[in-house]
Parts: sequence; structure tokens; C-alpha cells
Amino acid sequence: MISVSAPGKIILAGEHAVVYGKPALVAAVDKRLTVRIKTRKNGEIKIFSRQPSSQIKEAVRKTEENLALLRSDRLSKILKSRGLAIEVVSEIPVQAGMGSSAAVAVATVGGLLALSKKIKRFSDEDKELINKVAYQVEKKIHQNPSGIDNTISTFGGFLWFKKGKPFKRIKLGSLPRFVFVNTGKAEETTGEMVRYLKNKIENRKNTKQILRSFARIERQTKNLLLGLKDKNKRKIIKAIKECEENLEMLGVVGEFAKKLIREVERIGGGAKICGAGGIKDRSGILLCYHQKPEKIFALAKSLNLEAFEAKLGEEGVYIKA
Ligand code: MEV
Repeated sequence: MISVSAPGKIILAGEHAVVYGKPALVAAVDKRLTVRIKTRKNGEIKIFSRQPSSQIKEAVRKTEENLALLRSDRLSKILKSRGLAIEVVSEIPVQAGMGSSAAVAVATVGGLLALSKKIKRFSDEDKELINKVAYQVEKKIHQNPSGIDNTISTFGGFLWFKKGKPFKRIKLGSLPRFVFVNTGKAEETTGEMVRYLKNKIENRKNTKQILRSFARIERQTKNLLLGLKDKNKRKIIKAIKECEENLEMLGVVGEFAKKLIREVERIGGGAKICGAGGIKDRSGILLCYHQKPEKIFALAKSLNLEAFEAKLGEEGVYIKA
């Protein structure tokens, strides 16, 4: 049996704008998922997962295709003669902005590659291939993703990411204590939220304002990085607040999350959605910062919402022993 682990992610700043070529700062988080792959005996694929099985089947198809291009046919042979049982066990909340869909793609592609190559560790070249194939899967599922989710889940750490460009690894010393509050699963998928914004731009609804918001998000993404490097708390809060203000202008934040964020601001902190968001009802995870993190925990508790701290900068995809 092959077991591969891939992390979820937190976008510290730059979501949505990153789809249009702006930079984003992203971290791998210590909420992960494991994909376990076993060969079977009847040539069928059996999937055990709470994620849509269409995505896993797509990961199998794309991995087979890419390996065939590399003249490697072991996976094809296994699929034809024996079949596979693929099981996903996840601690990453779904539709919460934490990259669960990309992590499934990355770990499934990684597992199939490990099975095909009979390896115990991924080389840099393997990771390049996993990232490329997982991006193809993400494109099929979400149509126009930037590639940030699959890239961070593959390579881990902290990345400065621009669509279609080589990423930069960022070294950040000790980080302030961020608190993540779960406003609940968004009704919309990431693909739907990205399309919602794309339609607005194509229909020329507030296009100028949208482009202005992207530029402001870019400025605040840079400021957040500087604030984190300098450990400048005021700069960090300002950057988070301004990113959120512009995400709200883009129209990707729901009313429930907005109210909670105003409350965080009222008590002296800053908060933002960290992913695609959601507008029909809930908007996924909020990244919250306050000099006294207990205040955020107390606020979340008063509303019966889950709040947690998480380790950021975690390892990317790996084969478990
Ligand atoms: C989703 O995690 C982040 C978005 O910027 C979409 C993307 O970059 O593909 C909303």
C-alpha cells in the first residue's frame, strides 16, 4: 500500500487578485490529508472519500496520460489488470478556503506516481510533475485557477506566488499568533467564486473598481510580507484590514463573515477571508489577528464558532513510511 500526505493551505494575502496576475503570499498549514492506494484484482477503481470521486478519477486519468507521455506504462498496466482502491482521509475542512480540493489532487497524483515508480521519496523532479498534473486536475474541476493551491500543497513552506511564474520561497522567522475562525462551509465552490468575479469583469460591471481593488490588494500583500518580516503589528493589522476591505469590494464576502469581521475590528484586531470566500451564506475560514488572541477565541466562542491556531510553513507532499 502507498500512503501519501499533502497539506492544506492558508492564503495570507492576495486571493482572487492572484488569478489576474497579482502576487499572493501563501503558507502550507498543519491540517493535512492522506491518500492511501492499494492495488486490487478486478481491474476496477474503487474510491472511498468524502470528496467528489470525479476529482480523484480525473487525477487518475491525468496521471496516466502524463506518464504515458513519459513512456512509463506501469500505471496503465496496473489499472488494466488489477485496478486500484483509493482512500482519502482528511483533516482539511471542505469549501472553507483551505485548499482541500488541491490537496486531494496533489496526494492522489503523488500516490500514483509513487506506485508507478516504486519510490519511497519524491525528488524535486517528481514534485514538478505532481504539481503540473495536479494543476491540470484543478483546471478541469475549477476551470480558471491560478495554480496557487496545488503549488503550495506540493512544495510546502511559505511561497510568494504569481500565476504562470516560478514561485519564490519566503523565510519568515517566528510568526505572530494568528487565530482562524471557521464561519462555516461556503455554499459555492472555488470555481464558482472565481467565475462570479470573471463574469463581473466580462460584463463590465464595475471593472475599474475591480482593477483598483486588485492593485490595492497587491500593495497590501507586499505590506503584509514586510510587516511579518519586521514583526510590525500595526502594519500587519492594517494590511489584513485593507485586503479584506478590497475583497468585500470585489463582492466575495458573505454578510455573516462581514459582521464577524467588523466585530474583530471593533475590538482592535484585523480579519479577512482566506481563500475564495462565499456570498450566499458562509465564507469559510477567517484569518484573524489581535495582539491578544484570547479576545478572538472569546468572540468565536460567544458565537459558537470553531476557532483554532495552526502551524504555518509546513512540509509539502511526501510519501509516508
Ligand atoms: C483559492 O484558494 C484562491 C483563489 O485566488 C482562486 C485561485 O487562485 O485559483 C480565489
